[in-house]
This record gives sequence, C-alpha cells and structure tokens, in this order.
Amino acid sequence: MHIGRTTLSKFVIEQTRGQYSEMGALLIDVAAAVKTISGLVGKGALSGFAGALDSTNVQGEVQKKLDVLTNEAILRHCEWGGQLAGMASEEMDDPYRIPERYPRGRYLLIFDPLDGSSNSDVNVSVGTIFSILQRSTAGDAENVDYLQSGCEQLAAGYAIYGPATMLVLSVGRGTHGFTLDRESGNFILTHPDIRVPEETREFAINTSNERFWEPPVQRYVAECQAGKTGIRGADFNMRWIASMVAEVHRILMRGGIFMYPKDNKDPAKPGRLRLMYEANPMAMLIEQAGGAASTGRQRIAEVAPETLHQRVPVILGSKSEVQRLERYHEEYDTGADRPFVSPLFAERSLFRD
Ligand code: F6P
Repeated sequence: MHIGRTTLSKFVIEQTRGQYSEMGALLIDVAAAVKTISGLVGKGALSGFAGALDSTNVQGEVQKKLDVLTNEAILRHCEWGGQLAGMASEEMDDPYRIPERYPRGRYLLIFDPLDGSSNSDVNVSVGTIFSILQRSTAGDAENVDYLQSGCEQLAAGYAIYGPATMLVLSVGRGTHGFTLDRESGNFILTHPDIRVPEETREFAINTSNERFWEPPVQRYVAECQAGKTGIRGADFNMRWIASMVAEVHRILMRGGIFMYPKDNKDPAKPGRLRLMYEANPMAMLIEQAGGAASTGRQRIAEVAPETLHQRVPVILGSKSEVQRLERYHEEYDTGADRPFVSPLFAERSLFRD
C-alpha cells in the first residue's frame, strides 16, 4: 500500500499546472501507454508476440512484432485527448496525423516505442523513450514543425521494462523516477531529483567498433583500459548492455559515461543513435540531473535537426568525463594532441631523400 505517497498523476498535475496543464494530461496518457507496454513486454514468450516481421523500419532495421504493437499502443493511448498536433516515431517513416474525429492541440510527441527491442528475445531490459515539443498554435503539424533542437523540449522521459518497470521524467525541473506498483497500477515517486555523480570510474561503449572510432575516443578508452598503470591512475570498469535505456538508467542511478560515438563504419551514418527520439530526450534527462550530453564537439541539445530520423554521435553521463572527451576532440581537431614534427627533419625532408 502506498497511501499518501506521490503518484505520477499527482506529480505531473502539480508540475504542469497553469500554462502546461494540457501537457500534463498528455503525460498521463503516455504513462497509460507505458503500463500497457509493460504488461505486454512482461509476458515474454507467453505474449505470442516474440519474433520478427518481414518489414523493416525507416532505418532499414528489421521490425519486430513488439515494435509495431508498442507503436500502436502509444498512438491509441495518446491520439484522442486533444493535446496533440501530431506524433512521430522510429517505427513510422512519416509523422502520424491525428484522426479527423479527434480535436487537435499544440504539442508534438516523438518517441521510440521499444528501444533495444532485440533484447526482448533474451529477456534483457528494454524501454520506451519520448520527447515533447510544441508548435505555436494548435492544429495539424507539418513535418518541419518537428525539426526543433533538443533545447526546445518541454518534457522528456523513458520507461524501463526491467525487473521493475520505472518511468523517469523531466518537465524541465529536475529528473524524477517513478516505480510501477503492479498491484495498484500506480507509478509511485521513488527517486525524486536524481543527480548524476560528477566523477565516475565506469564507461560503456561497444568496443567491437574500436577500429572505426575517431582518435579522441580511441585515446579516451585506451586510457581507461590502462587503469592504474596509465595516465588516469585509476582502474575503470566497463559495461555494455546494448540497450540505451538500461545504460542511461544505470548512469542516472550511479554515474558513468555512455558512448555511441561517431565512427567511420558507414560514412553515410554519423552515429548510430537517433537525434530526435533517443539522443535529445536522454540528453535532457541527463542534463536535468546534473550530467552532460555531447556529440564530442557540441552539446546534443544544440544540434539543429535536418531530418526526423537523423543520427547523431552520443557521449553522455558524468560531467567531468564528458568534458574530458570534448577536450580530446578539440585537441584532435586542432592538432594539439599530436607532437609537432618539423618538416625539416621529418623522414622526407629537404635534408633527406
Ligand atoms: O538504437 C537501438 C540500440 O539498441 C540502443 O538501445 C543501444 O544503445 C544500441 O542500439 C546498441 O547497439 P549495438 O548493437 O551496436 O551494441
């Protein structure tokens, strides 16, 4: 029993009173969708929805039945309330138009309905990520309305479907965590005002991509791996769950740094993760918790989007480590990390043949 504790609805109503009360109603619908998805994902193989479809999404990734179903769950839970001008998702090539029978509002909901969905087959935590933007007036959103930088987000959050289902949320006043009480069906505020520790000795990166990384990231990871014997003078721990939601959740709980940096594996892709519905909302949650989120060369929240599904390099977590990586990128870009070699005495110089 949680009599007297703060439920998500109470928290949201209090935080969005006045000008943003319609956004509060929208967030409560998002939470309802999350409960539906939690039920679905929690059934595992018993749901009958395991496995892949024949289709691919706009990213060219094979869609799973759960990707499509969870996308539907969010559309159906959120389309009716009159707060939205439109929705966009990883699973839809183009933004979703609110059906004629429902009123329109001024908010835009952008989401990844089931991030890390391939992990659901192996019973590892997956999640839903969402971001809320607004247009100046109520009415059907045009594609261009969605192309706002992360700084413009009014709210962002994720749900993590792990041993417990949690919803972590920010409306621009800190980052707060709610745990789903499966008996009452309520999200209860269990982690108010989460803070990311500034210092950390834990990093997360897919090291199988090491040969494709840029030198500043190779330098950083090599230094962490050198541990006590290297210039960092301390041993580091490494984690890789391959589920961004689980990774960000760990960082919010105990610090750390997460990297899916720029690499040269596929020159057409400047990173793996999607700006609008992965990087931006996570960046807002991390920054609101006192951490930092960067591409290595720019604050993620300041990247001007060009397309809805664009990718971006992501480095986020404990502030001092993100800043160190930004410094390494700058030193690399300016050549400051390479010792000066005089052309006069280089191997092929005026004085040698
Ligand atoms: O974008 C989907 C995602 O599953 C993220 O949640 C995760 O961080 C990343 O991809 C994992 O990538 P990889 O398969 O390269 O480890």
